[in-house]
Amino acid sequence: CRIRHYKFNVVMKNTTRLCSTKPIVTVNERFPGPTLYAREGDTVLVKVVNHVKYNVTIHWHGIRQIRTGWADGPAYITQCPIQPGQNYIYNFTITGQRGTLLWHAHILWLRATVHGALVILPKLGVPYPFPKPNHEVVVVLGEWWKSDTEAVVNEAVKSGLAPNVSDAHTINGQPGSVSNCPSQGGFTLSVESGKTYMLRIINAALNEELFFKIAGHNLTIVEVDATYVKPFKIDTIVIAPGQTTNAIITADQSSGKYLVAASPFMDSPVAVDNVTATATLHYSGTLSNSPTTLTSPPPQNATPIANNFITSLKSLNSKKYPAKVPLTVDHSLFFTVGLGINPCPSCKAGNGSRVVAAINNVTFVMPTTALLQAHYFNISGVFTTDFPGNPPVAFNYTGAPPTTLQTINGTKVYRLSYNSTVQLVLQDTGIIAPENHPVHLHGFNFFAVGKGLGNFNSKTDPKNFNLVDPVERNTIGVPSGGWVAIRFLADNPGVWFMHCHLEVHTTWGLKMAFLVDNGKGPNESLLPPPSDLPKC
Ligand code: C2O
Repeated sequence: CRIRHYKFNVVMKNTTRLCSTKPIVTVNERFPGPTLYAREGDTVLVKVVNHVKYNVTIHWHGIRQIRTGWADGPAYITQCPIQPGQNYIYNFTITGQRGTLLWHAHILWLRATVHGALVILPKLGVPYPFPKPNHEVVVVLGEWWKSDTEAVVNEAVKSGLAPNVSDAHTINGQPGSVSNCPSQGGFTLSVESGKTYMLRIINAALNEELFFKIAGHNLTIVEVDATYVKPFKIDTIVIAPGQTTNAIITADQSSGKYLVAASPFMDSPVAVDNVTATATLHYSGTLSNSPTTLTSPPPQNATPIANNFITSLKSLNSKKYPAKVPLTVDHSLFFTVGLGINPCPSCKAGNGSRVVAAINNVTFVMPTTALLQAHYFNISGVFTTDFPGNPPVAFNYTGAPPTTLQTINGTKVYRLSYNSTVQLVLQDTGIIAPENHPVHLHGFNFFAVGKGLGNFNSKTDPKNFNLVDPVERNTIGVPSGGWVAIRFLADNPGVWFMHCHLEVHTTWGLKMAFLVDNGKGPNESLLPPPSDLPKC
């Protein structure tokens, strides 16, 4: 195992997309940002130097950060932001994980442009549990606004209205040819006939789940969220913001050009944003002016195509990589996730009310001191530990909303004892409209043991849970008008954020945190904070 040093200079950079130029916040002047490589077992030190006028933090999405919550990155949850002119070294060890993850800014909407791939190779000499592909390619999917994204979110917060949708999606930073600025071209994936390629696909978009497909080529799925799955072949994947998927393609044509398409999946409400990003799979030797074999992206509300992919995912569950699903449950939790309306007399628009989002009717309010510091140093008054384990009022979650359902504001956490097992049912609500929510849990992987449409039934549904080989991941789509059940072992002391990875919903309050107590053993407590931890 090695120590890997990286330096992230956070700087502004004028960047041109869709034929217009704007200054964006970048790491090392790159969009998407640099790929960070490490091996399982390595210690990674990333020195982040903030040269911009915004506060910044970086999150290593999916890295478990065992006992090192100080390096996790969500602003005001595990650290105070790195202020302009300041720096901070993220110091963490990659334990028991290998695969594709992503890093991204974790404050306001900066992750729109501040993100990149995090590739964790297996330990030296340890093979993949599938035939080694000839080549590996990082494919980062994103979203582009012509206007300044911080201005977009600030305006939305002020007005109480929904923020503007993006102007394009991107594949490795490029919208591609199907955009209103065709001259800029798109990303080219060059292949050689007969070779295999593992695509490390990352959804770094802010607000869109995406379909991804390649004309004329099947994808063999081998891994999601840096956990191995039972390999299967499929022509279209769906990937939510924060999720990653490793897919192997065989370049089994002799020549030609094939369209690669990333298009939005939004089962409900339908159709607000239908811009498809494209790239080209290009066989070497093919003349660049030869025609491209096209493929049409799935309709935006193609739920069956999304479900076909999602239900095919199963943990590899081999001897070497067993699925360690908790078989007992210490904490049985039921969280409603969804949107709501709150009065807002000061909002300029929206008739005196605004859209909020909540979990169990709690709209999370960001503290001004980081929760982890408040916890570690016993600073009182920052948060309360009364986050409800169940909704305050039971109702038909996917039917007509009750009229009296208000959310309350609060900085509440749910407390778990060390090494307790948790079953959490995430139930989508139809308070405004049923909507897909990709929920991300920091600090853990969880097993997705069950999923269904309509209301979760606590008597009958658990009988059908998969406790053998459920997929293990860190971000899961709560289906529109339905539910998912996840299980995890609370073996990581600290404060761990959980939120919808659609940034607009996080902004509206669809977030909470778990506080996991220290255990009694010598290696069961949160480590002390590093001396350069930023101050609020
Ligand atoms: Cu990928 Cu809390 O984020």
